[in-house]
Amino acid sequence: MFSDDMRLIAREMVAPGKGILAADESTGTMEKRLHAVGLDSTEETRRQYRELIVSTPGLGEAISGVILFDETVRQESSGGVPLRKVAEENGILPGIKVDKGAKPLAGSDGEKITEGLDGLRDRLTEYAGMGMKFTKWRAVLDIGNGHPSDYAIHVNAHALARYAALSQEAGLVPMVEPEVLMDGDHSLEDAETATTRTLREVFEQLAKQGVELESMVLKPNMVVAGKECPRQPETEQVAEATVRTLRRTVPSAVPGIAFLSGGQGDEEATVNLNAINQLGPLPWQVTFSFGRGLLAPTLQEWVGRAENVDSAQRVLAHRARLNGAARQGRYDAELEHV
Ligand code: 13P
Repeated sequence: MFSDDMRLIAREMVAPGKGILAADESTGTMEKRLHAVGLDSTEETRRQYRELIVSTPGLGEAISGVILFDETVRQESSGGVPLRKVAEENGILPGIKVDKGAKPLAGSDGEKITEGLDGLRDRLTEYAGMGMKFTKWRAVLDIGNGHPSDYAIHVNAHALARYAALSQEAGLVPMVEPEVLMDGDHSLEDAETATTRTLREVFEQLAKQGVELESMVLKPNMVVAGKECPRQPETEQVAEATVRTLRRTVPSAVPGIAFLSGGQGDEEATVNLNAINQLGPLPWQVTFSFGRGLLAPTLQEWVGRAENVDSAQRVLAHRARLNGAARQGRYDAELEHV
């Protein structure tokens, strides 16, 4: 694929009014999510859940792309259509998580490095052949006890850039996801410092490794205080810290920024996204790439029952529309009940 095509896909992914749905939980994470609502995690329950998601009527109106997991792109709907095709027929670009998860970083004091570079070129070639349009790689950094260290930031940024360069070589738009976690009791200021250091290094490595900024999407965390921080900031403060951090670190050549929700409540993530967009105009499209922020209420509604599929799909479409409004700064709490 030529870079013109990738540029176009990157812009479609962050098109006005739309955002991305992250349904790429690994088998281990999916097991946790399904157990939490009292369900066994089998290949079949996971298939049913993912079919419910990608076949949601009207989802393409607010969702531009869906990030899938390797198992899902090999599964079919109950009607025998590959799930990645069901997404496309619903107006949604299919994407794929290509990292192999965060593992203990050797020589560090409890920090993580994301694995999955070995053999990645071959896996990307296969995914491109299946018609996937974009990819995702998530790096994880935590705050507290001297973390994140320069070492952990550097090696994770280096791996993100290696992944992004390989993805573009295969014609697949990379979603570069350096997640600074909201676990812990750190302040908003600590989150801003850690996120700024991380994004500076990520863009340094992307430049050094020849990644074309116009053909990628950044998937960062919002700048929020730690979940256990006793001084929780106002929405306005979160929005200002987030926008300040992004303006200082993300070149305007990047077409779009799509936030992860990272354990924020679903309404909280929507409200924050709205406040961030209300500080515009911004140099990039600023939207969502939520996993839990879109899917937690959907799974709660479904709980594995065939008779709940329609209502669970309505919950998902509704949450997607609300976030579609928030990514234009047009969300209102009243809309929650429409
Ligand atoms: P959350 O929105 O649940 O953080 O998930 C987004 C994601 O894709 C994490 O890799």
